Amino acid sequence: MGLTLALPKGRLWPDVQALLDRAGLPAIGGLAEDRQLLHDAADGWRYLLVRPSDVPTFVREGVADAGVTGKDVLFEDGDGLYEMLDLGIGRSHMAVAVPADGPDWARLLAERGGSLRVATSYPAAARAFFAAHGLSPRVIRLRGSVELAPQVGLADCIVDLVETGRTLAANGLREAVAIGPVTARLVANQQAYRWKGADLGGLLGRLREVAA
Ligand code: PRP
Repeated sequence: MGLTLALPKGRLWPDVQALLDRAGLPAIGGLAEDRQLLHDAADGWRYLLVRPSDVPTFVREGVADAGVTGKDVLFEDGDGLYEMLDLGIGRSHMAVAVPADGPDWARLLAERGGSLRVATSYPAAARAFFAAHGLSPRVIRLRGSVELAPQVGLADCIVDLVETGRTLAANGLREAVAIGPVTARLVANQQAYRWKGADLGGLLGRLREVAA
C-alpha cells in the first residue's frame, strides 16, 4: 500500500525528486512542474507539495504519513515527529556570519557583549548556539534575506544556512563560526509509525538503498 508524503518545494526539490525516483516511488518524475500541489499516483501513493518549513505541520497533523525536510527546519519545529533517516541530500551548514570589514568574532563579542543582536530565520538554533556559549543575545527573526540585516544596521551578526558561501560574500559578510551540518531527513508521524509501520519500513528500506 502507498503512503501520503509531504514533500518540499523549492531548492531541495530537484534532489528529493531524483532520490524518490531512484527509490522507485511511482510518478515522481515531472511532479511540481504544473503548480499542482496534490498528486495521486499509482498504488495509493499521494504527494503533497509544501514549503519545507510546513512539512512538520502536515506530518504532525497526520494528513501526511511521512515527509522530507531539512534538519534546519526540524531543529525549529521537529517536536512529535520521528526522524527516520538522514537522506544525505540538501547538504549545507548553519553558521554565524559577521561583516567582513568589521571586528573579528571575539572582538565583536567583547564589544557588544550582552547587547549583541542576531538576525536569523532559525531562532531556536541561534538561541541554543549562543546559550552553549553562555550568551543570550537579542534574536531578531526574519523569514528570509537575513544577510541584509547587518548591512542596514538591524543586527550585528546573523545565523543562517551557508551552501556555496556566495550569498555571504555578495552581502559583505564572512563566516565566523560553523554551527553544524544540515541535510534533508525523512520524518514520520508517530501514529502512522504505529499503524503503518510495515509500509513506512518498506519506504525506509527503499530510501536507505539509494540515499547518498
Ligand atoms: C538560503 C540561505 C542563504 C543562502 C545560502 O537562502 O538562507 O541565504 O541560501 O546559500 P549560498 O551559500 O549558496 O549562497 P534562500 O536562497 O533559500 O533564500 P532566503 O533568503 O529566502 O532564505
